[in-house]
Amino acid sequence: MDVAAQEVVLVTDTPPESHEPGLENLLTEDRRFPPTPEFADQANAQRGLYAWANADRPSFWAEQARELLSWEKPFEEVLDWSKAPFVRWFADGTLNAAYNAVDRHVEAGIGDRVALHFEGEDGTGRSLTYADLQREVSKAANAFTALGVGTGDRVAIYLPLIPEAVITMLACARIGAPHSVVFGGFSAEALSTRINDAQAKLVVTADGGYRRGSASALKPAVDEALTKGTPSVEHVLVVQRTGQDVAWNDELDVWWSDVVDTASDQHTPVAVEAEHPLFILYTSGTTGKPKGIFHTTGGYLTQAAYTHRNVFDLKPETDVYWCTADIGWITGHTYVVYGPLINGATQVIYEGTPDTPHRGRWWEIIEKYKVSILYTAPTAIRTCMKWGEEIPGKFDLSSLRVLGSVGEPINPEAWMWYRRVIGGDRTPIVDTWWQTETGGIMISPLPGVTETKPGSAQVPLPGIAADVVDDDAQSVPNGSGGYLVLTEPWPAMLRGIWGDPDRYVDTYWSRFRGLYFAGDGAKKDADGDIWLLGRVDDVMNVSGHRLSTTEIESALVSHPWVAEAAVVGAADETTGQAVVAFVILRGDAGGGDQDADAVQTELRNHVAKEIGPIAKPRQILVVAELPKTRSGKIMRRLLRDVAENRQVGDATTLADSSVMDLIAQGLSAPG
Ligand code: WT7
Repeated sequence: MDVAAQEVVLVTDTPPESHEPGLENLLTEDRRFPPTPEFADQANAQRGLYAWANADRPSFWAEQARELLSWEKPFEEVLDWSKAPFVRWFADGTLNAAYNAVDRHVEAGIGDRVALHFEGEDGTGRSLTYADLQREVSKAANAFTALGVGTGDRVAIYLPLIPEAVITMLACARIGAPHSVVFGGFSAEALSTRINDAQAKLVVTADGGYRRGSASALKPAVDEALTKGTPSVEHVLVVQRTGQDVAWNDELDVWWSDVVDTASDQHTPVAVEAEHPLFILYTSGTTGKPKGIFHTTGGYLTQAAYTHRNVFDLKPETDVYWCTADIGWITGHTYVVYGPLINGATQVIYEGTPDTPHRGRWWEIIEKYKVSILYTAPTAIRTCMKWGEEIPGKFDLSSLRVLGSVGEPINPEAWMWYRRVIGGDRTPIVDTWWQTETGGIMISPLPGVTETKPGSAQVPLPGIAADVVDDDAQSVPNGSGGYLVLTEPWPAMLRGIWGDPDRYVDTYWSRFRGLYFAGDGAKKDADGDIWLLGRVDDVMNVSGHRLSTTEIESALVSHPWVAEAAVVGAADETTGQAVVAFVILRGDAGGGDQDADAVQTELRNHVAKEIGPIAKPRQILVVAELPKTRSGKIMRRLLRDVAENRQVGDATTLADSSVMDLIAQGLSAPG
């Protein structure tokens, strides 16, 4: 298929550099942090890795695949890019992900190493060794099989961050059943769409989980999702976490304790082909319909293990690693489940929020388990900055030796605070750029090798090829900005959008011929290092989570009060971006009689119900008109100016140029 022939408009009216505040600050950032000789000497990654990878990229990855994974049948084929942009890596090899993550460590004699230190929000917790994990995963695999799940069948997972979440993912992998984890903060509506798109046969959930000090229910959302019609679902498997009451359907529902705890702990993992789907994970795109990004086994696991080992300098015998992500996101897949476990790491997983029961909870956990590698998001760092450095100051954080950041651009001040207050002015920071689609880290400094720059992800990893290009797909010179693209296939790249190959080609491969377009704006500095500048499409990034403007707009217009809606991501000090909605109310449907507060509350709750609490707009502004071009396209750039309290920019291409005045007047009017 000729990818360039596919016409699609991905870039909105926003040029890549115009809407991110602070760009000028970024480009004058001149602080530098070279690695210490002590760190450099002991680092897993050495400078030679770049030359090795550059010499022959596919063979470099093949060596990583052989070294880091155990194959049931070794592969001969390495990379097949003949049907680009559809890729195959290591295609004639077979392996099992759960065997690689668990069993082989037990066979190698490290079964009594702790795999997971689970810290519940309520203070209870337990530690599972690799041998424990092998038994638990085997039991779950046997139970899933008994419930009729076979190789290739899909399993939806809607669980809090408890050990059963990790066990369930690995049990699916063990029988070759692709999992589709749906973040517990998504609504019943979102869950049912995802269950149906993947045609899941089994749903694994819990009665509830602990959130901000109380038990919060999960199963009712599954029950509601099923009432919307989910014909593929044969069973709902329920973990008892909180002990709260649940409604029960004898035909569908089964308790984990009845079928998993009683199952045999002996199970032979199913070896699958390297290109067998490992999981589907839904993410927001520029349209209303979430995309089921799917990843396969051999290439994904290779890059997960390689990046986890080199970017975090993991020493599995001595490190205690903690990634604060939920398993509902790609970070939780690659850097809580697959990367660390494949590498035999000891890690912490924490169920709750950073401020329960007090704002020092994270630092207390680091002190308690002597965490040495911490991987978290800029939004969390900025929140802790706001709470004040006296809080982390009360805890012993001296065990930390590497700090990671992911999810959104990290502003230099947050980077400096992270390094000074959390890292004791000592630890390297790795700012890691990647996406659900890339499967693993793509652009990041290597600790011990790279001289770091606060705010920049800097360089593609050895084995990865990226560039910044202009509108005509030409590489921009150092000192210039443009669009971030990936120029060579990589092992963990998405294999497509579940059930929709054309959309895969359209979304990622049509903007620039032969290049993967990531959707981010970026700039090369004088040294050629890459600085990420945020999304250039209709995708927002709120607290490191991707939300689609279109998806929230359609949720808003599904409410009877709303005639039209436009959503923008406005700069927010803590969350990076925040959702701001502009709505036109329908005079005839009751909305017009409500005061502004009632409209806000009603519509915010409606969005939470349709998509999930994470998508709730920070602000909803009622307006009489929306700014549109002559072709009817909403000019979000102008609305963003309003939402960010800026002088409204050039409005000459509006069909009706008085609209912005109307909006401004309406907003300043009392009431
Ligand atoms: C988008 C991907 C990758 C796991 C978490 C988010 C933004 C991610 C960085 C970073 C600047 C970043 C990009 C990207 N992003 N990491 N280090 N610096 N921006 O995964 O939900 O798939 O979102 O997050 O805009 O496209 P995701």
